[in-house]
Amino acid sequence: MSTSLVSAPALVSPPALVSAPPLVSAPGTPTGVAPTGVAAPTPATPVGSTPAGCGSTATGPLGVLGVPGQVNLDYAATAPCARAAADAVAELLPWYGSVHRGAGALSRRSTLAYERARQDVGDFLGVRPDDHVVFTRNTTDALNLLARALPPGTRVVTFAAEHHANLLPWPTGTVRLPVPGSAGDAVRAVDAALRELRRGSGGGAPILVAVTGASNVTGECWPIAELARVAHAHGARIALDAAQLAPHAELDVTALTVDYLALSGHKLYAPFGIGVLAGRADWLDAAPPYLAGGGATLGVGAATHDVRWADGPGRHEAGTPNLLGAVALAAVCTALAEADRAAQYAHEQALLARLRSGLAALPDVAELRTFEADAPRVGIVSFVVAGRESAAVAADLAQHWQLGLRDGLFCAHPLARRLLAEAATRSGRRDLPPTALRASIGLGSTVAHVDRLLTALAATR
Ligand SMILES: Cc1ncc(COP(=O)(O)O)c(C=O)c1O
Repeated sequence: MSTSLVSAPALVSPPALVSAPPLVSAPGTPTGVAPTGVAAPTPATPVGSTPAGCGSTATGPLGVLGVPGQVNLDYAATAPCARAAADAVAELLPWYGSVHRGAGALSRRSTLAYERARQDVGDFLGVRPDDHVVFTRNTTDALNLLARALPPGTRVVTFAAEHHANLLPWPTGTVRLPVPGSAGDAVRAVDAALRELRRGSGGGAPILVAVTGASNVTGECWPIAELARVAHAHGARIALDAAQLAPHAELDVTALTVDYLALSGHKLYAPFGIGVLAGRADWLDAAPPYLAGGGATLGVGAATHDVRWADGPGRHEAGTPNLLGAVALAAVCTALAEADRAAQYAHEQALLARLRSGLAALPDVAELRTFEADAPRVGIVSFVVAGRESAAVAADLAQHWQLGLRDGLFCAHPLARRLLAEAATRSGRRDLPPTALRASIGLGSTVAHVDRLLTALAATR
């Protein structure tokens, strides 16, 4: 990985650590309030404590912060903050200073912390030695940056199943493949599309395949390694939208042979406005800077456009960077790298199985899915309650059960609409609503949280 590491400043004794603010209950949200005539639900397990037998990681660096009584089942939108992220920010705050811009001890320490964060995030993602790790605001920002860095004439191939962040940034002429019915169909569709493009383009134009690692609607995992193999067989590159996969599964850019990877810190327990684009340096170094401004230049002459732009990640990071975001994300990455991810995965899969079988047992609930029912997936489930508007159900769950879920079409309108239509066909119901609900879990999620949702849904019909 190419970074411009600065030498360590002489550290003076660190000042007292800033303590985290006290967590307060949200006003007007009594816990355990059951709607009239309904059996009281098990009181919500305070996030941050470990209920016996749930096996969740609720303390230590990967414990998550939250408000007692509020059950967060909306991790796919924004995951709670891990202690590792909060602690890293608190520890750095007294030292907080300019990055790449100052000679003082605070600035030097801040610069070092920023570049170390880049290194740690790159290590966590298994990037190649000459890859760049560019800090962005989020996945949307990262994919827009990549779209601007495509060599002229690049053709992009993506699927209608993508989040808008991986549908909308791409140039005119992008091939949008239909939503496939299985992982195998996805691989075959990309193979056929690339064959066709190669035939049509006379063979030479750069091609980028842009796909998600896990769907934000269904949680289903996409066959990334196979897609990468097919892309490379046709001389194409592949970009992985890892926004939903990274929080749940180990990722290794080198082993997967993906060329680019994008993710969001706020979905990876580091909610401080940070994201990452990691990958091949050549396109990034050849592209115009994503933002023009300070920090992206080697030198600026007197004439308006007399600029020598920097190479490396700084080329696309003009302006004062998000130091605290980078450090928070790196702290979570380091904590995850040291954790037993297989155990985390097993725990999450057990919760997911409980949730899905509980939903399947509810007569009016239909799950949305793209692939087969038993296809591998991460802790995300979208569903509808027949005969009820999803927004009304979500409001009910929030008001009476302190459950936070997402409703809508999840910034994946083409996919969500199609899956709603398929769910109507599969279930034979004509009264499915036009939008869906989504429950998503992760670190700190427990059996009690899942059961609370199932109890609430059984009561809400
Ligand atoms: C698969 C996927 N890609 C991209 C994004 C965009 O992420 P962000 O809003 O952090 O830019 C999301 C957000 O939900 C997502 O689920």
